[in-house]
Order: sequence, then structure tokens, then C-alpha cells
Amino acid sequence: MKTMQTKSIQVKGLQKTYKQLHVLKGVDFEVEQGSIFALLGSNGAGKTTTVKILTTLLKPDSGSVTVNGFDVTSKPEHVRQSISLTGQFAAVDEVLTGRENLIMLARLRHLPNPRQVADDMLKRFGLTDAADRKAATYSGGMRRRLDIALSLVGQPQIIFLDEPTTGLDPEARIEVWKIVEELAEGGTTVFLTTQYLEEAEQLADQIAILHEGKIIASGTLQELKKLFPSAKVEYVEKQPTLEEIFLAIISKKEAM
Ligand SMILES: Nc1ncnc2c1ncn2[C@@H]1O[C@H](COP(=O)(O)OP(=O)(O)OP(=O)(O)O)[C@@H](O)[C@H]1O
Ligand SMILES: [Mg+2]
Repeated sequence: MKTMQTKSIQVKGLQKTYKQLHVLKGVDFEVEQGSIFALLGSNGAGKTTTVKILTTLLKPDSGSVTVNGFDVTSKPEHVRQSISLTGQFAAVDEVLTGRENLIMLARLRHLPNPRQVADDMLKRFGLTDAADRKAATYSGGMRRRLDIALSLVGQPQIIFLDEPTTGLDPEARIEVWKIVEELAEGGTTVFLTTQYLEEAEQLADQIAILHEGKIIASGTLQELKKLFPSAKVEYVEKQPTLEEIFLAIISKKEAM
């Protein structure tokens, strides 16, 4: 039976100003349940600001934002119950071991068997051997894996990952990509931000490009590629990369 696609996230006319700085100038997008959505933008574009609003850490100035069917402004506690956030900067407690970090979180979430939850996560994320070492001794990739594991304790329906692979080496990045793909296959909605075009290209079902306060382009990779008409016919027909599309859209805008 074909199930109806439902929206995990709906954002309409979202605006946010910090003092004089008008960061979000009417942002619109929707995220399908169980899909991977990538919000793409340069440094300072407003990606973290958007994530903070969607995860109820920051209030929007105007516009409507619903997450899992709940309005972030009027029902923030309902939103919080269905989501988890892995921020741009790791939330791991370095003094604790990997196992202790996970047990602590499982307790905070009032789960029935914290030790078992921790064991399962350690195994799933390949951290069993390092489980009893202080997180301070973990590599960047291990720390990111622990960070994502922590955010999955309690099985949230929607997971927000703010630049999950920034600063990781290529191998660790591929590991994180695998985790993200597995999450979506399991039905979790994944909202991620990235500055890496190839990351959006690799992972996302839907890509939205945030630039100068607005979504200037959005769609599947195939749809975005159509926005770039001048696919050059060289000896072989050249497919534009997302990077070329991004630069073309931005320069078109700036020439206007
Ligand atoms: N609390 C704040 N007060 C004032 N300005 C802020 C605040 N937080 C962010 N800004 C500004 O808002 C703009 C958007 O910031 P934001 O952190 O959302 O960008 P970003 O897309 O996440 O960038 P990055 O890729 O560097 O993480 C930036 O110019 C930033 O300096
Ligand atoms: Mg950011």
C-alpha cells in the first residue's frame, strides 16, 4: 500500500534579525518524513540560526515553523520530545568515558535500561573498544560518532545535524555519511547543514541553498542540475557539479 508522504518540517516566511542584522528574510521549505534534507550555505548564511529556531533554542521573529506537526513557538516542549540536535560544536563530556556519556544521557531521558542502551550504541557506532576511555582521548571522528550516538538515545523521529562533518578527515566523513544514510533508511528524518557541496550531493534527497537570507534554490540534485542550462558539450557531455550550480545561481543573483 502506498503511504501518504507527510511533512516532518514546514517553514514559511521565517524571519530573524539579530540587532540590526537581518539574517533570515523569509525562508520557506518543507522536509518529508524519513528523508535527508540538506541546508546548504556559506559561512554566516544563517544555517545555525535556522537550526536553532527549528530546535526551539531561538525564537523566530515572524513566519510559521512546525516540526513534527507542532508549532515551535506555541508547542516547544512537544517539538523537543520528537527531535534531537547534534550541534556544530560537540556536546560530549570529555571527562567522562564514551560509555559514561551514553549512560548519563539514557538516565536523563528516563530510559529503562541505561547500560544496555549504552552497550547497543557503542556497538552500533564501532566504539566498543574505546568505550572505557575518556572521551578527551578520542579522535575527531570518534568524538563525532559519539556525539551522534548521544543524540540518538531515546530514538528521536527527527535528527538535526549542524555541520556534522566539518573538520573531519575524508575517512571519518564517509563514516558519518554511512550513519546518516542508515538513519534515513530506518525512517528517521535527517535535517543537516553543510558547507560542502559534495556532502549535499552525496546524501540529500532534497537540497536547499540559503543565500542572503533566502532559499535561492531548492529541489533534488536532478532538479537543481536543470537550473544550470549551460551544461557544456565538450568531448563528452559534462554534467554540472553542485558547486557549479551554486556559483552560477549566486553570480546570476549578484549580477541583477
Ligand atoms: N547571537 C547572535 N548575535 C548577533 N549576531 C549573530 C548571533 N548569532 C549569529 N549571528 C550572526 O548571524 C549570521 C548568521 O550566523 P549563523 O551562525 O546562523 O551562520 P551559519 O550559516 O551557521 O555559518 P557557519 O557556516 O559559519 O556556521 C552571522 O553573520 C552571524 O555573525
Ligand atoms: Mg553554523
